[in-house]
Amino acid sequence: MSKTFYITTPIYYPSGNPHIGHCYTTVACDSIARYKRMQGYDVMFLTGTDEHGQKIEEKAKEKGVTPKEYVDEIVATFKKLWSYMNISYDRYIRTTDDYHVESVQKIFKDLYDRGYIYKGKYTGKYCTPCESFWTESQLDENGCCPECHRPVIEASEEAYFFKMSPFADRIEKLLLETDYLRPKYRAQELVNNFIKPGLEDLCVSRTSFTWGVPVSFDEKHVVYVWIDALSNYITALGYDNSAYSDYGKYWPADVHMVAKDIMRFHAIIWPAMLMALEQPLPKHLAVHGWITFLNKQGEAQKMSKSLGNVVDPFMLGERYGVDTIRYHILREMALGADSAFSNEIMINRINSDLANGFGNLVSRTVAMADKYFGGTLPADREEGEIDKSLIDVVLAAREKVDLCIDETRLKNALEEIFVVVDRANKYIDETEPWKLGKNEADKPRLAAVLYNLLEAIRVISTLLSPFMPATMPKVWEQIGASEADVTYEAAGKFGVLPKDVTVHKGAILFPRIDIDKEIEELNAIIEKNMADAKSHLSDSEKGEEFAPAELAAEIGIEGFAKADLRVALVKECEKVKKSKKLLCLQLDDGFGGRQVVSGIAEWYKPEDLIGRKIIIVANLKPAKLCGVESQGMILAADTPDGGAAVVFPDQSLPCGSKIR
Ligand code: MSP
Repeated sequence: MSKTFYITTPIYYPSGNPHIGHCYTTVACDSIARYKRMQGYDVMFLTGTDEHGQKIEEKAKEKGVTPKEYVDEIVATFKKLWSYMNISYDRYIRTTDDYHVESVQKIFKDLYDRGYIYKGKYTGKYCTPCESFWTESQLDENGCCPECHRPVIEASEEAYFFKMSPFADRIEKLLLETDYLRPKYRAQELVNNFIKPGLEDLCVSRTSFTWGVPVSFDEKHVVYVWIDALSNYITALGYDNSAYSDYGKYWPADVHMVAKDIMRFHAIIWPAMLMALEQPLPKHLAVHGWITFLNKQGEAQKMSKSLGNVVDPFMLGERYGVDTIRYHILREMALGADSAFSNEIMINRINSDLANGFGNLVSRTVAMADKYFGGTLPADREEGEIDKSLIDVVLAAREKVDLCIDETRLKNALEEIFVVVDRANKYIDETEPWKLGKNEADKPRLAAVLYNLLEAIRVISTLLSPFMPATMPKVWEQIGASEADVTYEAAGKFGVLPKDVTVHKGAILFPRIDIDKEIEELNAIIEKNMADAKSHLSDSEKGEEFAPAELAAEIGIEGFAKADLRVALVKECEKVKKSKKLLCLQLDDGFGGRQVVSGIAEWYKPEDLIGRKIIIVANLKPAKLCGVESQGMILAADTPDGGAAVVFPDQSLPCGSKIR
């Protein structure tokens, strides 16, 4: 019986078109699934959509369609994207599938019968017009409903709760003492934030909307979306339903992969549910960061529809090829950390690794085999001393990549493969085959050099094929490799290609991109998207999509006290010549005056500021911006559309007033 491997992505909310951020987890899981299949595992790769909940219900209503009609359309877009991105999922679950609904009802009832779910009262802030409960922290700045901004009342409603405290110790051990959570450094923060203060019971039913799985024994309640959604990982295998019968075979999952914003649900609630159901726990939870968007100010923003900074994978795929995009997103993101997307970073990466690195290696090698031997290498070969150093690097690669895959470190896996690419390119410089080609007597040596290069390419391309599945067959065609030459087993060997291998010159694999031209075009697309986003979003969507920048690391009061913030009056203000972004302000700071340069010219005209009081960081070391001295900086807030809004204090404050 072959070994099994079960890997899952989160199931996505069908609440808008998928973007490059959604692609990350799915492409990562796809690459691992393909690698494991190549290793001979019987793989189950699951993805799907999370289709219930109040938001979906509301959006469908806004559009005048049923929730099911609404989600059907978006699910079709997701499926189209996955097929475009070459995602080889084995099963696609929709939480609206009948079998899943049936299982969720049984799971809920089972938890109830076991005494872990009980009926109680949910107390919170209630907005009567919106029929919604809010927690204290969700309320707007005036303590009102974040949706309609009307006052809320203290209210309570009947609800079911999931008792999680019995599992607190086991979950703490799972996080701190096992390698369930990757990267491990996130475990302590979870324990400190959620377990140490006492694991609170979770409200797991709602009565304020109906688009969900009804509680089978109390139909006015629908099951909380996260209980519904998390269950997908087992219902899709046939747990508590008869649609499938793979639970015994594939559970527990080998890897659940998610992004950091949903780590808590998978690190705490999901294990607690499985513990309560007395089911085995998944082996690993791999948590990655977000693909953020690097804006013109060089700041990383979360991708969101309201900012118009969502990068469209179809557009990128059309321009650069799907495999190139797959490579780029996987190569940039280290497990656990965010990775900033910018057109510059992407194009430089494509040019350096794919066009100059791997693509050039293949085209040079094949072109030389063609030029000097008419495409077929002679069997007569002369090995050289330097060959061993190349062969050693090639032979070491597979094991290193295996380890990275097993630890869900895909960026490192690609780096390991590119160690071989770099070594092979260096081997070309060292052996100078173009010189050997000039001399008939050197032909046996040249044959050995080219054969070694073809072997290196064979191993590299085999190991790369799970990441770039559409391109590698083209490489195999060019280097004359048969199917048997590019198996996992063959990737652990050297000398597999026939001695008299015949190469076939083909098209350039990764054309070099003209960076300036491309960036100009891409920037124009993004700017248009941003403008469109502003004009198309409803107010509720703007609020919903706004994601504040991440909080900086904690500091002590002494850290804050180092910044000297003061009130200052703008006496004069003008644009800095030769700069589109900078304004130069003359200020009365209460200490004789100073000049500050600020990058806000895109959002403020000098007359918007003259005569108004602002706040400055008064003890910042002077710096020159565009050659103009700036003695401090003025405070401004990020706006949801990527701009800046100057902070204006109470205008009656005297200049020089200290802010603490
Ligand atoms: N439906 C829940 C998941 C339930 S799993 C039982 C959900 N859906 S989601 O569509 O909002 O997000 C799905 C995944 O995509 C999450 O892991 C989310 O963090 C991830 N991403 C969304 N935007 C992303 C980026 N910009 N970058 C990387 N991942 C991002 O949460």
